[in-house]
Amino acid sequence: MADDVANPDLRVLIPADALQARIAELAAAINRDYAASERLIAIGVLKGSVFFLVDLLKHLTVPLKVDFFQTSSYGNATEPGEVRIKKDVDLSVRGADVLLVEDIVDTGYTLRTILSLLKFRQAKSVRLCALLDKKARREVEVPIDYKGFEIEDVFVVGYGLDHAERYRNLPFIGYLQ
Ligand code: IMP
Repeated sequence: MADDVANPDLRVLIPADALQARIAELAAAINRDYAASERLIAIGVLKGSVFFLVDLLKHLTVPLKVDFFQTSSYGNATEPGEVRIKKDVDLSVRGADVLLVEDIVDTGYTLRTILSLLKFRQAKSVRLCALLDKKARREVEVPIDYKGFEIEDVFVVGYGLDHAERYRNLPFIGYLQ
């Protein structure tokens, strides 16, 4: 079976070097903004944000802890926009500065749910860092404090993003023709 990179229907949208260059810029801004933070927790949303989170955190020089949420919105949702927390964070966020790291903001429902949960748990501050912003699809507004790229309304894969669990390991963001 041919591997995913060799798929003739796969097109590159954002090459690996452009991703890495933008991630270094985002990290520089985050390092500046959190220089005085006394308790920073970086929280990734599984599984899509993992590649981005790892590359981003390698550039960060501020002391931090790492944790994860896992959500699901497709499948069993009984109404549009209903988001289930499949895995909760292990750490207490109360009084902490939280940097939420997400692969893509699409309708916004996932992030809205997580942001309100973090506020309910009395995080000291919450900021969102998203690699991709598919703005045309937004149904609920979520503030993106650190944004990698705005993209058109296409279904993207790679660099953590999947189609039926495939393509996550691609080093670039691509789309299927
Ligand atoms: P939202 O709640 O609609 O903003 O959806 C966010 C989640 O949907 C992301 O974390 C992804 O897991 C998934 N998603 C949205 N758009 C895409 C895409 O183009 N490719 C792969 N996954 C996507």
